[in-house]
Amino acid sequence: MGKITNALKKAAEERLERIEKISRLKEREDLIVKKIGESNVDPSIVTYFDPKALISEQYKILRTNILSMNKGKPPQTIVITSSIHSEGKTVTVINLAVALAQSVQKPKVLLVDADMRRGRMVKYLGVDHKVGLMEILTGAAKAEDVLFHLEYDNLAFVGSGGIPENPAELLASDKMKQFLAEMKSDFDYILIDTPPIIPVTDAGIVGPIADGVLMVVQAGRTQRGIIRRAEDLLFQTHSKILGHVLTNIEYHLPEYIYRYL
Ligand SMILES: Nc1ncnc2c1ncn2[C@@H]1O[C@H](COP(=O)(O)OP(=O)(O)O)[C@@H](O)[C@H]1O
Ligand SMILES: [Mg+2]
Repeated sequence: MGKITNALKKAAEERLERIEKISRLKEREDLIVKKIGESNVDPSIVTYFDPKALISEQYKILRTNILSMNKGKPPQTIVITSSIHSEGKTVTVINLAVALAQSVQKPKVLLVDADMRRGRMVKYLGVDHKVGLMEILTGAAKAEDVLFHLEYDNLAFVGSGGIPENPAELLASDKMKQFLAEMKSDFDYILIDTPPIIPVTDAGIVGPIADGVLMVVQAGRTQRGIIRRAEDLLFQTHSKILGHVLTNIEYHLPEYIYRYL
């Protein structure tokens, strides 16, 4: 009895210690994301609210890695996909687009939501744009009429628009190639958010007409075999995999490794 009581007491103390540690961590200035103004943008778009936050720095590292590809001739059109749903594609691509737009050179960046099945980009951006890529590809609207900006003049968005019957066919159409070609002459970088590659083919259609594909992988959830299968599907379509972005990572390394200032 005594042993059990002691063990329970010890466990309770340890739990308390853990809670205290977490709350100390939460109080740390550099981990708190400062939301500015009355914006409706989702708090997960950290680069938008707080470019100096520790998390924003990770998206800047991703930006640097992309910009230094091909000996300074980085890919201009990049597709973002993942193996399965909810791995963090949309949050990653919006943060990356903001980080790119914040570069000193102020490149012109376009982010297109090509997930015409469950596209949630406009939701994350806190806007209510119902017209987007679907309308461009069906000829119901022109790109210049559906393109919109938030705070940054050099960052434009095209939402997914309405939900079509045939998203894969629309993405495979000449209209899509035409749209991309037009945008390539207007923008320095075009990022394209797509659905996951295992359940639907869309990313495999857009992948080969872009310069490459970034694969988002949710750590602790997506299994190796599933990632391999997703990559096989991309290889089959002759898409070039540029690299992987791991999401849902916890900081296991000591904090001082990440801190500089
Ligand atoms: N790097 C990350 N670390 C932890 N959670 C993340 C990360 N990126 C996104 N998420 C969370 O994962 C969930 C799914 O993100 P979302 O971008 O909508 O996924 P997808 O577009 O792949 O379906 C959201 O709740 C989002 O806040
Ligand atoms: Mg998404």
